[in-house]
Amino acid sequence: MGTADFNPNLACQKQVYLAKQLRDYREGRRSNHIPMVNIAKMLTEEEVDSISQYYSKINCPKKQ
Ligand code: HEM
Repeated sequence: MGTADFNPNLACQKQVYLAKQLRDYREGRRSNHIPMVNIAKMLTEEEVDSISQYYSKINCPKKQ
């Protein structure tokens, strides 16, 4: 869960969606948040897949 209003929740998000966002940041197709671009550039293909799978399997939090 994002701890600030402008940070997104990743838990329970779709795996395919998360992996696409990380690859888009890494390849420069999504560039609106530079820290995310820098983080994604450190990730290998395998890490993108495993991180995305990890977050997608975390139980969906209750709506606040
Ligand atoms: C383990 C490290 C991180 C991972 C795996 C990660 C992953 C992601 C992903 C998958 C998205 C896309 C979410 C979506 O489209 O709904 C995202 C967006 C975002 N992340 Fe991270 N993130 C990480 C660290 C951080 C850090 C350290 C910050 C703060 C500096 C941050 C701030 C943001 C923000 C603000 C967005 C949304 C940007 C926008 O407005 O579109 N993230 N992150």
